[in-house]
Order: sequence, then C-alpha cells, then structure tokens
Amino acid sequence: MKLELSVSNSLARIVAYHQASKHHLDRYAPGPGGLDWANQPDPFRRYAGAPCVELPLQADALTIPFAAVRRGERPIVYPLDRDSLAILFELSLGLSAWKQHADSRWALRCNPSSGNLHPTEGYLICPALPDLTPGIHHYLSCDHVLEQRAEPSATTWGNELRGGVVVALTGIHWREAWKYGLRAYRYCQHDCGHAIAAVAYAAAALGWRAQLIPGWGDDELAALLGLDRVEDFADVEPESPEVALWVGPEPLSAALSVHTLAHGLSYTGRPNGLSSSQVDWPGIEEVDCAAHRPPTIPASRFQPPSRPPLAEGDRPASASTLIRQRRSAVAFDGVTALPAERWFMMLDALLPRADAPPLDAWPWSPRVHPLFFAHRIDGVPPGLYLLARTAEALAELRGALHGNWAWSRVEQAPEHLPLYQLTVADARDAARVIACHQDIAADSCFAVGFLTEFAGPLQRAPWVYRELFWETGLLGQILYLEAESAGIRATGIGCFFDDALHRLLGLDGLAWQSLYHFTVGGPIEDRRVQNLPPYAHLHQG
Ligand SMILES: Cc1cc2nc3c(=O)[nH]c(=O)nc-3n(C[C@H](O)[C@H](O)[C@H](O)COP(=O)(O)O)c2cc1C
Repeated sequence: MKLELSVSNSLARIVAYHQASKHHLDRYAPGPGGLDWANQPDPFRRYAGAPCVELPLQADALTIPFAAVRRGERPIVYPLDRDSLAILFELSLGLSAWKQHADSRWALRCNPSSGNLHPTEGYLICPALPDLTPGIHHYLSCDHVLEQRAEPSATTWGNELRGGVVVALTGIHWREAWKYGLRAYRYCQHDCGHAIAAVAYAAAALGWRAQLIPGWGDDELAALLGLDRVEDFADVEPESPEVALWVGPEPLSAALSVHTLAHGLSYTGRPNGLSSSQVDWPGIEEVDCAAHRPPTIPASRFQPPSRPPLAEGDRPASASTLIRQRRSAVAFDGVTALPAERWFMMLDALLPRADAPPLDAWPWSPRVHPLFFAHRIDGVPPGLYLLARTAEALAELRGALHGNWAWSRVEQAPEHLPLYQLTVADARDAARVIACHQDIAADSCFAVGFLTEFAGPLQRAPWVYRELFWETGLLGQILYLEAESAGIRATGIGCFFDDALHRLLGLDGLAWQSLYHFTVGGPIEDRRVQNLPPYAHLHQG
C-alpha cells in the first residue's frame, strides 16, 4: 500500500526528485559510479510453477506494409485468438535478435530500453479464447510463452472482456537503478512509453487498435496483476504498476471495471529474484509514491484535429520486418543527409491523427513539443527548429523562450505542419555537449530535445509526471520506426544535461522542461558484434 500524500506534498517531492536527477555540465546525477557485475539483474522475470502456454512464432505471416500501418490503414482484421496475440507480443515486447561479442551475449527486443536493461514487463488479461484459458498471463519474451499467473472463478468475468483484451505494463525500477542510480526512474518511464507505442503499432498491424485505459488507479492495477502479494514479492524485486491498454478489434467499453476483473482470482507461480542483492537508491521509492495514481474519472478523450493523411512511404517493407529490424544506432557517419520532404514526413507522424498508431492509443492532448537541432537536412538550413504540436503551446513557447528567436514558419513544409525556424546555425557542438558529449547527437541528420509542458499539468495531478515521460517515449518510438523506414536509424538519448538545454533556449523556471532527447542519422555498423536470430534457441534440443 502506498503512503497517502497530499497533492502539494507529492508535487514537492516530484520536483525535488526531478531536480536531483538532472545531469549537469559539472556533475552527473547520483549513480553507482561503476557496474556491480555480480548483481547484474536478470533481464527476464519468470513465474516458477505457473502453467505455460507456448506461442507460435508467426509474425512473418503478417504482410501489411509499414507504410500502410503508419497511416492508420487496417485492411485486414485478425481474429482475437492465441495466434494473433502471439503476433501482438512478438512484435511489441518480443525478442528481435541476440547480439554476441567475445563471451558476451545479450538479447534485443522490439521495444528499446535505456542500457538494454528492460524494466518493462508485459501482462495479458484475456477472456476464454481459442487455445487460451481466461485469466492473467505474464509474457516471457525469452521463451515467447505466456505464464498463467491467475485464473478467474467460473462466474466472475462474464462478459467483461468482449472484442478485446487488456495488455498491462509494469516496471522493475531496480533493473535500471543497478546501472543508472537516481535517474533510473525517468528511464523506466521512457521505456514504458516506448512499450506503449510498440503495442499500439503491433495492434494496428493486426487490424486492431490499442487504447490506453485512463481511469484505473495504480493500487487496483497492482491488485489485479498480483503485484501486491507480499507472499510472492517479499524476497524479490518488486514491480510497479504502470499502465493498462485495451487492445483488440472492438473499442474499449466504458463499463470495463478493474474491480470486477480483480474479483475472485486465484494466483499461481512465484516470481524469480533478479539479483542476489540490490542497492536501494533513496529517491526512487519516494518519487514512485509521490507519482502514485489514484483511480480517476477520465475526462473525455482528446480528439485530434482533422489533418491530411500521412504522405505515402516509398519503401515496401512489411511492418513485421521493419518492427523487428529496428535497432539503435551506436554511431552515425556524419555525412548522410535526409531530404527535406522525408524529414517533414517523419515530423508529420509526430502529430496525432484519429486512426494512426501509436498516437491513436493516447487519450490526452499533446504536451510534448520537439525542438530540433537540424544538422543535415537537404534543402533546409542547419539550425534550431520547433514543432509546436498544439496552437496553445506555440503561443506559450513564444513567450517562454527568451532570446532573439526568429519564429519563422518553415515555408517548404506542408501547410498543416507547425514547424518553426528559431535560428540558422551550426548546432552540432551544442547538440553533442547537451547530450552528455555523445557524438551521435552531432553526427546525425538531426537531434531532438523533447520540450514538455511541466509545472502546469503536474499542478493538480502529480502522477502526470509519468505520463509526460511516456509521451516522449511514444514520440521516440515513432522516430525509431520512421527512421528505419527511411533507410536510416535512430537512437534514444536519456543522458543529457537538462538545464544546459534550458539555458540555450532562454527557458527559466519549471513551466517547461526537456524530458528526453533523440538523434536520427546514417548509421555506422559495429562489425565486431555478431547478429543472431531471436528465437533459434527455442528450436535447439
Ligand atoms: C530511454 C532510452 C534512453 C537511451 N539513452 C541512450 C543514450 O543516452 N545513449 C545511447 O547511445 N543509447 C541510448 N539508448 C539506446 C539503448 O542503448 C538501446 O535502446 C538499447 O541498447 C537496446 O538496443 P536496441 O534499441 O537496438 O534494441 C537509449 C534508449 C532508450 C529507450
């Protein structure tokens, strides 16, 4: 049970955490300073003793092009059954490859993760379906199986889940804290945002839709998933409830109740321990308590303004291929330039449209507005640019950014794309320095700082702190897949000097904060690292 904190108390704690977890040019946020390899967390949670349902690996059968999925085209609706859910998980949280270098071997997944530490766990809450028993299942990506964690009593679920399932995401903070210390909580939230988007893209490729369920409280979700069971978690790393998504061919019913689902469940399986010992980072548990979400009565869903459909992509890759080939670039060539038209196409995908994934899953008005360090865009002078995702944000940002900024509309951009030039400049050094001196921010075609409405949205609802990071993760996942489909590559940047960016822009106070950075460019492959298929291990002996 979380401590009850008043809103102002919670807000103060969140702001204190946020400030303390900033990296500064002259000092990094508190972290372990080195890696305690003996305690490296197991990247896979398993529930020993839980009955397992093997899932087929058949994402290859899905031929819809990514170019169609990104535009929200859903020509085929797959049936709601075990095999389709297998594809949903394979293309969202499933493994995408194993990498090997010398004696080290590590798995990559369709959803990216800071440090590849993967704090996010996925659960399925489903009714009786062909080849699948009703209940709560944990998705174990390593084995591509569902572990049945709980079973409903015969009478309780009735018609609660009709035309869809619930996919719930949780976060294991320790996995990130092991490497990143205090800042880890932020990374868990980014990763959750990427995972939400990964589920939404996979759902759309099946002809379905994912919708974030906005009203469920953390305690209720924890109870449903069995995360609050002291007898199971007393000796192992806890999981924090993050978010529940409705996924399926039919829309979310307003009547879907977490209480009804949680009633009369019997749980099986014991979660594994992930490290032999763990270091508690003072600050992480506190911010998690302060950002605790109570049950809420959701406001009406945000309806995006009508916009022309996204321009057609020119590459015919299937969504299932593209999603599984997504990788973070480890270095960029410093040469590749992106044609302006292609850049505008990518940026356009960051604007919400009623049917286009993953933002069709997002119930709230945009609160994140990307600032671009454009280095190599053919036909666009290098410099700083800003995409104001709402008209209100544009007005506010014009007042908030102190300095001699041009605010001139980029004329070549499509009329509906609110892209503004702030200044013409060689921004490579600034991008590199702000991204903790990482060359990938300067050698790219463009880098991004996700400017986010901050103090305002947190004022009455401190748990929105998490949602702000999730939204940046959603936008990041869009850029990953858009870059992949343009034949280049992207990388999330969680390491950046927060206030250095704010100073560059002349931003004071906490009305706006940059919560995540990104970079997109022509990748250089690391040929020393071997690439192995994701699930060959399942067929060996
Ligand atoms: C939230 C987040 C922050 C990240 N921060 C950095 C970073 O600062 N520098 C970097 O080189 N890669 C960064 N990455 C990339 C991860 O290292 C990468 O996603 C992970 O190794 C898994 O590889 P994959 O994306 O190819 O699956 C970040 C990724 C995420 C999702």
